[in-house]
Amino acid sequence: MSDRAKMIVILGVTSAMARALADEFAKAGHPVILAARDDEETAFIAADIRTRCEVNAIPMHFEAQAFEDHESFVNSCIESGEGTIGGVVLCYGFMDEQPKAQSDFDIARRTFDVNLTSAISVLEKFAAHFEARGEGFIAAISSVAGDRGRQSNYIYGASKAGLSAYLEGLRNRLYHRGVHVTTIKPGFVDTKMTFGLPGLFLVATPQQAAKAMYKAIVTRKNTAYVPWFWRYIMLIIRHVPDWQFKKMKL
Ligand SMILES: NC(=O)c1ccc[n+]([C@@H]2O[C@H](COP(=O)([O-])OP(=O)(O)OC[C@H]3O[C@@H](n4cnc5c(N)ncnc54)[C@H](OP(=O)(O)O)[C@@H]3O)[C@@H](O)[C@H]2O)c1
Repeated sequence: MSDRAKMIVILGVTSAMARALADEFAKAGHPVILAARDDEETAFIAADIRTRCEVNAIPMHFEAQAFEDHESFVNSCIESGEGTIGGVVLCYGFMDEQPKAQSDFDIARRTFDVNLTSAISVLEKFAAHFEARGEGFIAAISSVAGDRGRQSNYIYGASKAGLSAYLEGLRNRLYHRGVHVTTIKPGFVDTKMTFGLPGLFLVATPQQAAKAMYKAIVTRKNTAYVPWFWRYIMLIIRHVPDWQFKKMKL
């Protein structure tokens, strides 16, 4: 990877998937900025990575819904003193139970604020920085849930569909400036978000997901399904005609 040893920013590192991904970059020799809203847990993860991987790991506070703080956050990353930023990976996300999101607009709005609005807010600032330098990468975790709206989680799914479309446009814009954008679409991964949910199948571990995400990012994939077979599962699901899809209980 040409960005080897450049600083990588991981947003939402208290997610098990993000933590395992930070590990992958650190093991490859990259210093990392680890950002999340739980300062204690973030400092713990940073100390662990510094000890095991012998690279610098800088903990930083990041709250997705504090849009007004995003500019100073991005500036702090740029001025962290640990060298050039090679890329940023947006890993955080929010999902509540679909019936709650249907009946409580605050939950629906939070789903969009965290998964989509905040991504636009923070990634545009990183995009401007990379665009000016003519290098770097942006990656973000969307979801297979954004590929088709289903009754069981269409509010979360709609926020991720918006994120995927946003990233597609960003990729198109930044391609012309030498900056790459990767959209990551996991299927089911065993994390806090999915703990106790019914009907899960083909569940990946956070470590398996992180290895696949790392590979997709360093090989500059456009859209990566994680694990890979979800591409084909979603291909089938996307091709079910609407007249039939609306009758299904998904
Ligand atoms: N697990 C799956 O099956 C699956 C499938 C497809 C996509 N995804 C996506 O994968 C990503 C990681 O999720 P996960 O499964 O690892 O779940 P998770 O363990 O619940 O992680 C979610 C992360 O988002 C952070 N977060 C939530 N709201 C935030 C806010 N307002 N500001 C800053 N950070 C916030 C959480 O911070 P706290 O630790 O402080 O709560 C946590 O770090 C998410 O984007 C999720 O949508 C997950």
